[in-house]
Order: sequence, then structure tokens, then C-alpha cells
Amino acid sequence: MDSRRWLYLGSATTFAILQLFLVVVLSQETQKYNFGPFNDSMINRELYVIPMAWLNFGALQLSPDSVVDGTLRNKSGRVFINKPFKLWDDTRIASFNTSFLMNIYPVVNNTPGEGIAFIIGPSLSIPPLSYGQYLGLTNQLTDGNSSNQIVAVEFDTVKQDFDPDDNHVGLDINGVVSKVTVPLSKFGFKLAASNPRFYMVWVEYDGVKKEMEVYMAESQYHYHGPIVAEKPSKAVLSSHLDLKGLVNDMSYFGFSASTGNYFELNAIVRWNLSVEVLPNNNMSSARNDNYWWKTGVGVVVGAPLLALLITGVMPFLRRKIRESGSDPKLLSTLRRLPGTPSEFRFRELKIATNNFHDSNKLGQGGFGIVYRGTLPKEKLQMAVKKFSRDSIKGISDFLAELTIINRLRHKNLVRLLGWCHNKGTLLLVYEYMPNGSLDNHIFFEKGTTKTPLSWSLRYKILLDVAFALNYLHNEYDQKVVHRDLKASNIMLDSDFNARLGDFGLARTLDNEKTSYAEGVPAGTRGYIAPECLYTGKATCESDVYGFGAVLLEVVCGQRPWAKIGGHHFLVGWVWQLHGEGKILEAVDLRLGNDFVAEEAERILTLGLACSHPMAPVRPKMQTIIQIISGSVPVPQVPPFKPPFVWPAVDQGPTAATLECSPINTTFFAR
Ligand SMILES: *[C@@H]1O[C@H](CO)[C@@H](O)[C@H](O)[C@H]1NC(C)=O
Ligand SMILES: *[C@@H]1O[C@H](CO)[C@@H](O)[C@H](O)[C@H]1NC(C)=O
Ligand SMILES: *[C@@H]1O[C@H](CO)[C@@H](O)[C@H](O)[C@H]1NC(C)=O
Ligand SMILES: *[C@@H]1O[C@H](CO)[C@@H](O)[C@H](O)[C@H]1NC(C)=O
Ligand SMILES: *[C@@H]1O[C@H](CO)[C@@H](O)[C@H](O)[C@H]1NC(C)=O
Ligand SMILES: *[C@@H]1O[C@H](CO)[C@@H](O)[C@H](O)[C@H]1NC(C)=O
Repeated sequence: MDSRRWLYLGSATTFAILQLFLVVVLSQETQKYNFGPFNDSMINRELYVIPMAWLNFGALQLSPDSVVDGTLRNKSGRVFINKPFKLWDDTRIASFNTSFLMNIYPVVNNTPGEGIAFIIGPSLSIPPLSYGQYLGLTNQLTDGNSSNQIVAVEFDTVKQDFDPDDNHVGLDINGVVSKVTVPLSKFGFKLAASNPRFYMVWVEYDGVKKEMEVYMAESQYHYHGPIVAEKPSKAVLSSHLDLKGLVNDMSYFGFSASTGNYFELNAIVRWNLSVEVLPNNNMSSARNDNYWWKTGVGVVVGAPLLALLITGVMPFLRRKIRESGSDPKLLSTLRRLPGTPSEFRFRELKIATNNFHDSNKLGQGGFGIVYRGTLPKEKLQMAVKKFSRDSIKGISDFLAELTIINRLRHKNLVRLLGWCHNKGTLLLVYEYMPNGSLDNHIFFEKGTTKTPLSWSLRYKILLDVAFALNYLHNEYDQKVVHRDLKASNIMLDSDFNARLGDFGLARTLDNEKTSYAEGVPAGTRGYIAPECLYTGKATCESDVYGFGAVLLEVVCGQRPWAKIGGHHFLVGWVWQLHGEGKILEAVDLRLGNDFVAEEAERILTLGLACSHPMAPVRPKMQTIIQIISGSVPVPQVPPFKPPFVWPAVDQGPTAATLECSPINTTFFAR
């Protein structure tokens, strides 16, 4: 072995030791969830909803908010996060914080009942559901039994014999007879006030000190959302609490509530949870008494070695690690991602995709192959994107895609369900789109029996895509450019709703890396705006150009790079027909007369406006939506395709007339 090899081995060993040290001693990673507003699409994904709880009006309605079986009395329900958390092991107890906005409403001017509990429970189906007086925690047979393994913080609005009053907070262990109770009136809080009040609650558990603290503050709720109060400095309830042994080491977080002879609405409007991540379960179970000793030795031996190597070898080492794709930073970034996507196990995905079998291949993108998969247990279909291993840029692309997609929420975007990282292989798991991509419904080999999409579907799909792009450009808190808009990236769900997918190239605009310097991706000829080849940068305007190409191909049934009528690109041909006053001749012949001429003319003309060689002249997404839906006329398009000039010159009044106007917000109302 040459010295370089030794150096590498040595440093790798040291690094492994350091890693272990970091994981064991310094691990401060948390898993974070931010929920709310709540909606049905979370059911059986992020949330496990146990009737009579349900999701309505953007909130968890833990007990029914409308009459069920003739009454609101004697009902209970629970909602859990659909996955367990590791709460303790041999050596430590996880800390966690949660905060939620709660609203209790006594329906008529009635006696309220019964309350809400924040609950830590051992499984999704424990114990049989209650009615009346047990807050959805237990029932008359199970209440108080230590095999329940339940810890809860109750907000109780009914006075039982064992309660101080009908307006208190309590710490419940395995039953509704609280270990500690604190009346809330002395703080000026009224849980079930006849004019409903919103309360923010913070529950903080310190696994080292074994202390639980509950804070409360009244909050305001306006039609546009809650105004969350500051956490007060003084807790309303604090108690020593040793979760180890009390709750299951793998436990679920959630809420429960009940009504009884009296009733009220029990709603959770917003919910945040952050849980300290304990080292991997399997690793910890392999630990023994020597563990700390070994770690100690590792550190003592490793640290000086590390100090020695760190200066000279670190850069080399870091590169090595990045190249091998097992950057520990990556994993921790992934695990710290806010929001909902969950980590899948590689084995799970391997089974789901039949070992990434060719017959499960859905498609191939710039960065990897997409497979169809089915989780056997849940029968959940999904699309698994496996990033190609040899792409060194893979990790940053992967992270870019993940961090952006993870935070995007729109009904016309393909949803991310989770991710997986295994020995340098990166995978993303998406919702499965049964109808595949748009291009498969417009272009197909001659001789197939497939019928091309109807006009009304094409029209609706284009509007859907416009909504998605407008969201990316204007409605999300950062401007996001998609960069890779084309028919093969537009997915269709079971109802033929269009969903924009493949954010492999998506980048937020405040990130400098919107560059085409790495080259124009294959299969995108005709979708890329001319200025991009000069600036190397994707912009909202270049997305609009791509959208224009999609408009034309969907109406014409021709690829953007189709050589037609003596033109090199579809857009040249359509522009010529437009100049000759016969633009409707461009409409897909396969549609025959089954299209709406006025709509087709509007979309083709809009397609040309979007394809304007000068970026500033192209309409903005907000305007485009209004144009497609017919509430704003199509801008004037010159009879001849204008030349592209670089650098872009001020287009004067033409540009001004195309400035986007404020959009009518009611347009988005459902
Ligand atoms: C909980 O919040 C406290 C501050 O109130 C913070 O110090 C602690 O790190 C948080 N713990 C977790 C697990 O988020
Ligand atoms: C949840 O966290 C977000 C981001 O930190 C914050 O804006 C929001 O107010 C929190 N909501 C609750 C209910 O704590
Ligand atoms: C507690 O629950 C367990 C399991 O359901 C049961 O076997 C046991 O008899 C219960 N104990 C009491 C005191 O009810
Ligand atoms: C609720 O259930 C309890 C226990 O079975 C019963 O005693 C009570 O009458 C019920 N109340 C109503 C209003 O149905
Ligand atoms: C440890 O890993 C095995 C195999 O991957 C798995 O079946 C088991 O559930 C894991 N243990 C825990 C405590 O999660
Ligand atoms: C429900 O919420 C999710 C996550 O916030 C969001 O992506 C989705 O669009 C929402 N669905 C509806 C129908 O509002």
C-alpha cells in the first residue's frame, strides 16, 4: 500500500470513530412536524384518524363537529401521527416539544363536555375507545391499568368527583384520574368559553432532567389564520416525569377527546412537534455495558489522531465522502427536513419495486429511473425515483429537489411521500400517477388503438398546469422556477388532473445555481427559451416559454421540435399560420371537429405570445391563467415571428401592455 492509501485508511477509521462519538454524545437531531391547516389528504398518510375524529374546516375535529347517529353525545376519537417515535433506550430518554392551537366550543349555550388530551400511546389501536368521561383515552374497563402505557396532558371541561373543577389542565398516566391537576381560572383561562377562545399550548419534555412543563397563552384567530401568541415565561403545570418504562419505547403522538352527557366541539387547529432523534434502534439494542467504555477508548485514541489528521487530510477526506455519496450531512439534512415526507427503508422499496425490476419501470429522467412500487401492507402505490449513482452532482441535485418539493403544497403538483438513502443511492418516493405523463396521451406510435385526449381534457390539463406554475412563480413564499417544463413532466392522476412533476432541475430563484452551464438536458429541444443559451439562467420568463411550447404541442398534437411546413420547430409553423390568418389549421387533425374553435384560437395565440423570443414581452403566469379561462383577452401577437436579439432591448409599450394585472382572488375559491 502506498502512503496515500494508508493516509486514507487512517483518516477513514478516525472519521468512523468520530462519527460514533458524534452520534452517541452529541446527537441533538430532532424530527420536526408542522401541521395545519389540516385536510383530508393527510388521512392515512401523515395522520392516522380514529373515528369519530375526522378532519374538517382545516382542523382536527377530535369529536364530531356535526351530528352523528342523531347526537353529539357520548362520542370520542383520536388522531395520531402515523408513525412511532423512539422515546427511550438503555441510556437515554428523548426530549420533545410540542405546541398546538386548540379550540373548544360548547355548541349551544350549554354545559360543555368533556375535553381534549395530548396523548403519548403505545399503538394506534389502544385500548378500546371510550365514550363519556374518559377523554378518548381509556374506558371503564381499562382506565388506570398500567398496561395502557399512556401518558397524556388533559384539558378537562367537566368536573368529576376526582377533579378540582371543570376548567383545568392535568397530567394523566394510564387513566383520567390525573397525577397533577392545575385549575386554569387563576390564569384567566376559560377552556370552553361561550364565545370560543383559541389557546396555544406548549408541552416541553426534557428527557435528561425528566421534567415536563406545560405553558398556555390565549391566541387570536383571524379569517386568514391564527396569530400565535408568544410562549409565556411561566409554566401552568410542571412535573417530574420519567417516561422510561412508563410508555412504550416506540410510542405514538396524537390527540384524543370525548363528549359524554354533555358535549362540545374539540378541535386542534395547528400542531407542531419536534422530537429528539435517538440513535438507531437496532444499534442501541446491540449495545452492552462496555459500550460507554469502548466509546471512551475510541474517543481517547481517536481524538489525538484526528487532531493530527484533521488539518492535512480533511479536504481530501471530505471530497472522498462527497463522492461516495454517504455524506453524513446529507442524512442529517434529510432527517431535519420540516414537513411530512417520511424516511423509507431501502429494503422496503426494494420489495415494493420487485427489486427495481425492469417491468416496473415507469420512465427515465435526467437523473435516474422511475419505478412503480406497491407497499404490500398498505397496498399503497407509489413512484420511486432512483437517482443514478454515478452522477456526482447527484447529491446536490437530490437535496435541491427534496428541499424544494418538500415544502411545496399544491393540488397540481406531484406530492412527495418520502425518501431513502442507502449506501450512496438516493431515492425519492412520490404519489403514483395512474395515468402517466401527458405526452403518452398525445403522442403515440401509429397503429395503436389509443384515442388522443379530448379537447375538454386538454383544455383542463393546460389550466391545471398554469395553476401549478403560477403557484411556483407567485404564490409560494420563494419564487421557484421549474426549469424543465415539458409534456413528459406533466403527470395525470386517476381523474386526469394534471400534476407537475420532476423537479430535478427546480431551483428557487434566490439560489444562484439556476444555471444551464451543465448543458441543456436531453429531450428538451424546443422547450428552452433562446435567452437561456446566452444567460445560462432559468427564469420565470423561461418557464413561460416552456409553457408556451406545451400549449402548442397539446393543441397541435405535434412535438415542439416537429419539422413541419418547412420550419425547424412547431412554433415557426404556427406563427406562419397565424400571420396568414388561419391559425386553426394548426389544431390536431385527430380531433376532427371535436374542439371549441374560440378556445383553440385563444390557446394557440397565447402559445405564440409565450413563445415570444424576447423574454420581457411574454405574459406572466397570473395573466396566463386569466387568458386561458377567458376572463382577459389574448395579447396582440405580431403576424411574423419577431427576431431574437441579444442582449434584450426594452420592448417599450408592447411590454407594458402585457404587464400582469392583479388577479381576481375569488377565482381561486373552491
Ligand atoms: C424544546 O424547547 C427548548 C426551549 O424551550 C429547547 O431548548 C429544546 O432544545 C427543545 N427540544 C426539542 C427536542 O426540540
Ligand atoms: C409552528 O412552527 C412554525 C415555524 O416555526 C411557526 O410559525 C408556527 O407558529 C408554529 N405553530 C404552532 C402551533 O406552534
Ligand atoms: C390490565 O390490563 C391487562 C391487559 O389487558 C389485564 O390482563 C389485567 O387484568 C388488567 N389489570 C387490571 C387490574 O384490570
Ligand atoms: C352515555 O353513555 C353512558 C354509559 O353507557 C350512559 O350511561 C349515558 O346515558 C349515555 N348518555 C347519553 C346522552 O346517551
Ligand atoms: C431492526 O432491524 C430489523 C431488520 O431490519 C427489523 O425487523 C427490526 O424491526 C428492527 N428493530 C427495531 C427495534 O426497529
Ligand atoms: C391538504 O394539505 C396538504 C398539505 O398541507 C396540501 O398539500 C394539499 O394540497 C391540501 N389539500 C387540499 C385539498 O387542500
